[in-house]
Amino acid sequence: MLGRSFNRNLNRTWGFIEERAGIPKWELRPQPEFTFKPSYWTGAFVVNAFLYQVVSGLLLLLYYQPSTNPTFTACGQAVGQISAAPAAWCSTYYIINSVPMGSLLLSSHLYGAYAMIFLLLVHFYRGYYLGVYKKPREFSWMVGSLLLLMTLGMGFTGYLLPYTQLSYNATQVGIVLALRLPTVGPLTGPFILADGTGQELLSRMFAAHVLLIPLALGALLYAHIALFESHGIAPPATSDPRQRRTYTAKDDEKHVPFWPHIFFYMTKWALLYIGLLFGIAALWPWQLSTYVGNLTAAQQVTEPDWYFLWEFKLVDFAGVTPVIAIGASTAILLFILFLPFLDRSPRTHPRDRPFFVFVGNSLMGFFLIMTVWGGLTPGVQIPASQVALRLVPIFLVNAVVVAAFYVRYQRSYRARLRARERALRLPGIYSPAAPLPPAAPAIAARPPGGGPPEATP
Ligand code: HEM
Repeated sequence: MLGRSFNRNLNRTWGFIEERAGIPKWELRPQPEFTFKPSYWTGAFVVNAFLYQVVSGLLLLLYYQPSTNPTFTACGQAVGQISAAPAAWCSTYYIINSVPMGSLLLSSHLYGAYAMIFLLLVHFYRGYYLGVYKKPREFSWMVGSLLLLMTLGMGFTGYLLPYTQLSYNATQVGIVLALRLPTVGPLTGPFILADGTGQELLSRMFAAHVLLIPLALGALLYAHIALFESHGIAPPATSDPRQRRTYTAKDDEKHVPFWPHIFFYMTKWALLYIGLLFGIAALWPWQLSTYVGNLTAAQQVTEPDWYFLWEFKLVDFAGVTPVIAIGASTAILLFILFLPFLDRSPRTHPRDRPFFVFVGNSLMGFFLIMTVWGGLTPGVQIPASQVALRLVPIFLVNAVVVAAFYVRYQRSYRARLRARERALRLPGIYSPAAPLPPAAPAIAARPPGGGPPEATP
């Protein structure tokens, strides 16, 4: 009740502003009312997180110096006895200790990166399990996969920037792995490493982090959202192969304009996100570890951020060379990229896709266990017997659970569907011999700005 009168007032106020200011109609498409649940907007949460990274990153740029020279004078004043530290590290130290709210800014940028990757994984897995990559959203999925790669690239390149011994060692391991990529490795190696000095590496990581990858990410995001605009949000998953994932006329009857409703809905979540991020950053500020070249750091363990721990652990396995590790990661990436062309069945509900549910669960279990393992025993070699003991149960238990659900679903759910079809005198979806009736009219695309939808046969 309250929500409805709020929406009416919002409409009236926004209409007044648009009319008096002569603002052209906002182009993003309206959305059906059923989408006003956070689960439909996981991608928009990633956009929020990305925007926060851009703003906080630009503020950090005001103080950060991408140099390995120990010439940053403010560092001498702030750090005193360790003024020989590289400027990149010193300027980070300066941001934390001398810039007003600098610690909050830096910590929230770092935790914001973790949050963005976490939200991205939620967005990815939601799409995976609900089959949103199926016709007509194949390109949305493929562009999304490239966004995943770019986001991980942002994490990788940003890790070196404070120029701590820890981040330097981990970046070296990552680069050794990346250089083993067939064809791409030897081609890009000279560009990344240049003359092999720390300064050259830092300069390239800096340029990639603040310019090249954000530009690519921005362009891909534009394409991703443009594709979303043309297909509309994916309706709920269904077992009905006749219902392709386009709007039904009924769903489209009730839709809500982007301005100002969806915008305010997202703003609410964005404010909550920033509040949480600040709270965590204020309570647990990030600690800067020691700088590159500090002799006391010689014994330090080499460890990446949590989202690359699984890859580092993989290299610790007996018999897994960097080539095998990077080959396995490339295979996973290619599987994700081409998934829409591998899972060709028209059904979107997870209970109809046991094989792909099994693969998704197995990947999730594998990443989780490898991440925890990598965090607990970084750099510790693992014999083959241990690998089998820890990893094989994930796949076995998963196969049994998915198979059990599938068999149960075959018996009960399909039986109920058949009974309902008989009661409604519908031709059976689950009796293959019966011819399929024509699909219900669906709305293929709504012109931007919310004009009347076009019905397709
Ligand atoms: C930086 C990373 C990403 C951003 C900012 C992003 C953003 C978005 C946004 C704003 C939407 C509109 C619907 C929603 O809010 O959920 C969306 C939809 C979609 N995204 Fe992403 N995305 C990203 C990565 C990915 C990845 C990694 C995948 C999968 C590999 C993916 C696949 C899709 C698909 C298939 C849709 C259409 C879903 C629907 O219509 O409900 N995206 N994305």
